[in-house]
Formats: sequence, C-alpha cells, structure tokens
Amino acid sequence: MDVEIRRSLLGHFTPRDVWQPGKAPVFVRGEGCFVYDSDGNRYFDGVSGLFCSQLGHGRTDIAGAAAAQMSKLAYMPNWSAASDAALEASALIAERLPGELGSVFFVNSGSEANEAAMKFAIQLHRSRGQPQRKKFITRDHAYHGTTLGALSLTALPAYRAGYGDLLLPGVFNVPNTFRDRDRSGAALPSLDETVRLIEREGPDTIAAIFAEPVQNGGGALVPDPTYWPELRAICDRYGILLVADEVITGFGRLGTWFGSHHVGAQPDMMTFAKGVTSAYFPAGGMAVKPAHLDEICDVQGLYQHGSTWGAHPVAMAVVVANIRAMENEAVLANVRALEPHWAGLLNDLASRHPIVREVRGAGLMHAMELTRDRDNGATLTENQINLLVRERIPAAFRATGALFKADNRGGAMIVLCPPLNVDAATLTAQAGNLDRILTLVSDDIAKLD
Ligand SMILES: Cc1ncc(COP(=O)(O)O)c(C=O)c1O
Repeated sequence: MDVEIRRSLLGHFTPRDVWQPGKAPVFVRGEGCFVYDSDGNRYFDGVSGLFCSQLGHGRTDIAGAAAAQMSKLAYMPNWSAASDAALEASALIAERLPGELGSVFFVNSGSEANEAAMKFAIQLHRSRGQPQRKKFITRDHAYHGTTLGALSLTALPAYRAGYGDLLLPGVFNVPNTFRDRDRSGAALPSLDETVRLIEREGPDTIAAIFAEPVQNGGGALVPDPTYWPELRAICDRYGILLVADEVITGFGRLGTWFGSHHVGAQPDMMTFAKGVTSAYFPAGGMAVKPAHLDEICDVQGLYQHGSTWGAHPVAMAVVVANIRAMENEAVLANVRALEPHWAGLLNDLASRHPIVREVRGAGLMHAMELTRDRDNGATLTENQINLLVRERIPAAFRATGALFKADNRGGAMIVLCPPLNVDAATLTAQAGNLDRILTLVSDDIAKLD
C-alpha cells in the first residue's frame, strides 16, 4: 500500500511545505508510550498524541469495550433518550467532579464542549432575566478551540487571522498568570486587570470567564495558589459564571481527576475532551451544576443544544473502560509519584543547557522555555523562535526518536506531556533523549545570525 502523504488528505494546521512525501511521518502502529511510522521508526510519544493518550497506545481492553458496544448497540441518539453506556459514563464522571458539578452533557471535541458552555451560560443568564450578559473573558495565549464560537474565545491572533469580524464581538482578553510572580503587592496583577476590565465593560454584561486550571498556551502556566479562589470571589461579586476548560488538565494530567482539584478551583461549569477516552474514540463534554440546569428548565423548558453524535454509545463505552482502567491501575497516584522524578530530570537538564530559560509545570504537564543564552541574557527574535519551533526542534525530535511538542505561543517552548501510565525508567531514558535534543537545538541556536 502506498502510505505517502498525498493530495487526498488535508492536514490540520499544516503548512504546505511540510505536507510532502518524506517530510511528515505516517504513523501506522502504537504500543504503550511508543508509536511507529511506516518506515518502522519508533518514537516516544512525549505529548500523548495531542495531550490525550492518557493510557498510551495499543490497549486491547479499551478496543474490546468499543467492539463489544458496537456489536451490542452501535447507535441511538441522546435526544429524549439515553443509552445504558451513556448513563454509566456520566455517573462515573459525575462522581469525580469537583464541588457542585453533577450533570454531564456529551459532545465530540473540546471546541464543541466550549461552544456548549457558551450557550449554557447565555441561557442561564436569560433564565435569570439578564439577557444582556453576552460577553466572555478569556486569557492571553489561551487556546479554547477552532469552531467560530470557541475560536472567539481563543486568544491567539495567528489562529484568528482571516476570520476577523466573523468572530463574536464581545470577547475580551486579560493577562494570563505568567507575570503574577512579578507582583509587588498582595494582589495578583492578572486579577487586578480582570477586575478593571469587568468594571470597564459593565459587570452585568459579562456572561462568563473561561480559564484552564494550568494554561497550556504560554507554556504550562501554573497559577499562584490564591488565583482560583480569588477568581471565584470576583465571579461571585459580579454574577459572572466561571468555566474551567479542562480539555488538557482533565482526567489525570495533574495527578488529580481534574485540574480544578489541583489548583483549588470551584467552577460553575467545566469542559473536557481528549483524555476522557484516552483518545481511543472522540468524545468531549460539559459538566454543570444540576441547580443551574433546573433554573434553565424552569424558565425555558430545556437546554437548547444538541448533536447527532453527542453521547455516542461507543464513545461512552470507551469512557467507561478508560475511567475504570485509570482507577484500577492507580494512574493518578502514578502521576503524583512521578512528578518529582520528572521535574528533577527536567531541572537537571535546564541547569546543564544555557538555552533553557525555565522549566515549569505540574503533574505530567511541563514546558521548557528556550532562549538564546540564559547566562548572558541574550534572547531570541520572533523570526528565530518561529524557525526553531517550525523546523529545528521538530527535526531534533525526529533525529532522537522522541516526539514532544514545539510551541511558539509566548516564546520557543518544548511542551512535555507523556502518557500518564509511563514509568520512571522510561522517563529517565527520555531525559537522555531530551539532552540530545537540547544539544542539537543549542548547535542550531549558535549558528543563528
Ligand atoms: C484547552 C483546550 N481547549 C479546547 C481545545 C479544543 O479541543 P478540540 O481540538 O478537541 O476541539 C483544546 C485543544 O487542544 C485545548 O487544548
């Protein structure tokens, strides 16, 4: 079979010069934390596919659960009906949700989950007699998806370019938590700015604030411990709904079921996707407080949203198999146990490579921010960052057989999010690969003009 990249398949976010035979790998198989391309090369999957393969690749138990569900009942809709698989999946998730969250609405991706949350927020405010609350707040460098509603939330100019006035007008960005550590007084600068924006726009026009417990865009931004409780208080003061986007942080990434548990967040709504199925099937969802759902139904009869594939029975069977496997294999405890080992390895690498400006993160979600030379303060230009992230760092990944993610949001980053059932020896071996990657990239940086 000819497995070269061809014209018939369109790549996602892929420049045309990369979409050429021999340039973009074709993956054919996966096993545990490793994947294999069509030339038989083996790679460590250091970003869990795309932050989603919590349990790694090639698991026959999860594949078996999907096959059994397909044979038993492949499909019936979640419209005025349920499947037994959907009921079981929602119950398993609801048991693990933080605070008063307890009702789960299933969709098929993170973007759709955020669309669902935007609509739920609008409907809830309408039910409360506040139809003017239609604005949303998100944070600089945050990625919340690509459908037009979710893209309106995404605070990354490169992703929004070209869609301009088609995006929702009432979305405003505030600083993320990166600069909070430079604070001089007691208050967090990012939250001061958030309050200023709310006051300026008019508190009773704002529907919701969307934020990730640990933000991926900008490089694993772990907030100050006071951030989420204070953000909760601000939302309460102004009647604004707080939405935790847990598309990456949900399902164990930080060593807790949800990132909200890790950072002490008490959101009104949560969105998730990716790890809910460990990527064995597409699924996503939104969790809300049952009392909020009642408020909507009392006034409007129903939450006015849905889709054909939402709560697809096969996806639901995979959710169930995934959560049970994570529980049986103590995956959250594994993440917590490995965190100091992995962070220690990464910090050791940073101390030996002056191109590493900083390592940050929590659980098994880390980013290495690169610079030109940490010791003499020389930095990289925007063009140099783009060259490194688009070409040089990915080439170093392929040369060493370790696939992490190169990211140019907020600097030149190597993003590290291995599968959550990885073991200590594998991480130690991959730190060796990272050492080689950093040496190759240091050589590249030394040759930059
Ligand atoms: C935090 C966050 N929210 C939403 C999304 C969108 O998810 P999807 O690509 O499944 O639409 C992503 C995707 O990476 C994400 O990282």
